[in-house]
Amino acid sequence: PLVSMKEMLIKAKKEGYAVGQFNINNLEFTQAILQAAEEEKSPVILGVSEGAGKYMGGFIAVVHMVKGLMESYKITVPVAIHLDHGSSFEKCKEAVDAGFTSVMIDASHHPFDENVKITSEVVEYAHSKGVSVEAELGTVGGEEDGVIGGIIYANPQECKALVEQTAIDCLAPALGSVHGPYKGEPNLGFAEMEEISNLTDLPLVLHGGTGIPTKDIQRAISLGTAKINVNTENQIAATKVVREILEKDQKVYDPRKYLAPAREAIKTTVIGKMREFGSSQKA
Ligand code: G3H
Ligand code: ZN
Repeated sequence: PLVSMKEMLIKAKKEGYAVGQFNINNLEFTQAILQAAEEEKSPVILGVSEGAGKYMGGFIAVVHMVKGLMESYKITVPVAIHLDHGSSFEKCKEAVDAGFTSVMIDASHHPFDENVKITSEVVEYAHSKGVSVEAELGTVGGEEDGVIGGIIYANPQECKALVEQTAIDCLAPALGSVHGPYKGEPNLGFAEMEEISNLTDLPLVLHGGTGIPTKDIQRAISLGTAKINVNTENQIAATKVVREILEKDQKVYDPRKYLAPAREAIKTTVIGKMREFGSSQKA
């Protein structure tokens, strides 16, 4: 069923695993991720960035595509459609009104008081419709949707204050993670993660899941991380297959000949992540 992230993440935190947020870019990504979740009996979060939403035809088209596939595939595991890095109250409202079951308001680049204000507005509207809310503090490194940022670690006291002053369902404290591939090993702030987890008592979210070694994933989960976002790794897996097929055979023209194998590569990658995050067999 289509559900919010709230119960999913409370259960994950309590039982010591993380639910993967896998970003969708098109039909094949959505098919692959839903099939992986059903096969693994895993809860799953479909992440939709504003850019990807626009690419797919808008939030309404996304919701209909997801619902249609869930019906065709007879999906029984919990699925959330989540706005990734929502940039404003208006964008979050648009997603909620279109039928998203969860939104992230990313007002982390605003001054703290402004972040609290915008986040509270989103929470009030989203919760009135049964939709869960993720907020962010600090800055994830790298690029997303054309916006490039340096890494800024979240401040634990600000995290505590944000959680107290809003009623968010989960918190993404940026602690050294990066969108896109890492240059070398990631340097995650585990001490801060532990402190923030103790101060807020909320499920934490780890962005920039691509390229984080398993030992760091396990440590993050042990410190209260209950949601891990992965996008780039699936994009790389899909594109690699397409490139190989097109390079090998110059005569291919039917898109299904390269998109079906790309879809298979995404599915394999997602299944690997679900097992690594411990969410398999938890639906
Ligand atoms: O919000 C989405 C993610 O944080 C994905 O990060 O592309 O590095 O896996 P990634
Ligand atoms: Zn992110």
